[in-house]
Parts: sequence; structure tokens; C-alpha cells
Amino acid sequence: MLQNIMAVATTLHILSVIVWIGGMFFAHMALRPVVANLLEPPIRLQVMAQVLERFFLWVWIAVILLWATGLWIIFGFFDGMASIRISVHIMFSLAAIMTALYIYIFFIPFPNLRLAISTENFKQAGQYLAKIRSIIGFNLLLGIITVIIATGGRYF
Ligand code: HEM
Repeated sequence: MLQNIMAVATTLHILSVIVWIGGMFFAHMALRPVVANLLEPPIRLQVMAQVLERFFLWVWIAVILLWATGLWIIFGFFDGMASIRISVHIMFSLAAIMTALYIYIFFIPFPNLRLAISTENFKQAGQYLAKIRSIIGFNLLLGIITVIIATGGRYF
């Protein structure tokens, strides 16, 4: 039974990691530089806003699943927070920072970006997008560090 819990929870946990970190990697490293190169500001901003809108829906699902499965493993398989190794404590803390930054993006600069686009204030929209981009870049870095610690950390 415990084995089954781990199998389901870990699989969902890793699928969520793929969606969130992989999505940020693609958006930051591949999509954004090309869009910035090829498209003029009004259309570029609209493309990025619509891409982010679709991506953020999946990030919500991934974030909820990450926390649910992570806590499920800690309390269903391990013996609670006191029993987990240091790499999981670090994963937990970095994930909390990443989640807080994501929630901030979603509720502050992202609605502002959409509002600025709808009122055709493209200069301001560009500033909001730049802010979102820098936070996503930072979250991507934290996400990669988290994966390194979560996977490699278990051997120390
Ligand atoms: C962006 C956030 C997160 C990332 C990138 C991440 C990544 C990972 C990875 C790659 C593993 C697999 C380790 C392995 O089996 O080799 C893992 C396992 C695990 N994660 Fe996360 N995780 C995140 C968030 C969380 C959160 C929020 C929690 C707790 C609430 C959590 C708890 C756990 C636990 C308990 C395991 C199993 C550890 C073990 O078997 O030793 N994770 N995570």
C-alpha cells in the first residue's frame, strides 16, 4: 500500500516539476528571445500575454499538485516533517519562495500587463512584461537548484 502511495505521488510530483520548470525553461530560453527579435511591441506583448495566460493555468495545476503530493509523501510515507532529510527541507523552502513569487506574478504584474495592453499603453505593458520575465528567470534558477538538491541531495 505504502509503495502504491509513493508510486502515484512521486509520479504526479515529477510531472508537475516537468510542467512548471520545463515550461519556464522553454518560455525564458527559447520563446522570449525569438519573439523579442521578430515581433514589434504591440503584437509581441499580446503574444507573450496570451502565452503566459495559457501557461499559468498549467502552473496552477502543477503548483497545487506539487504541494499536495509533496505533503502526501511527507505525511503518508515518511513520518512527518521531523523525519525528512535536509534535502527535502531545502526543497520545501525553495518551493515556498517559488510559489510566493508565482502568486505575486499572477496577481500583480500579470493583470497589470493585460490592463496596459487592453488600454494600448504598450510602454507600460513592456515594463510589466520585463518584470514578469526577470521573476520567471529567477524562479527558473531556483527551480533548477531545487531539482539538483532534490535528486542529488539524497546521496549526501
Ligand atoms: C518547484 C518545487 C519542487 C521541485 C522542483 C521538486 C522536485 C523534486 C524531485 C526532482 C523529487 C525526486 C527526488 C528523487 O526521487 O530522486 C522530489 C521528491 C520529493 N519532494 Fe519535491 N519538489 C518540489 C516541491 C516540493 C514540495 C512543495 C514538497 C513538500 C511539500 C516536496 C516534497 C518532496 C518529497 C517528500 C519528495 C520525496 C523525497 C524522497 O523520496 O527522498 N517537494 N521533489
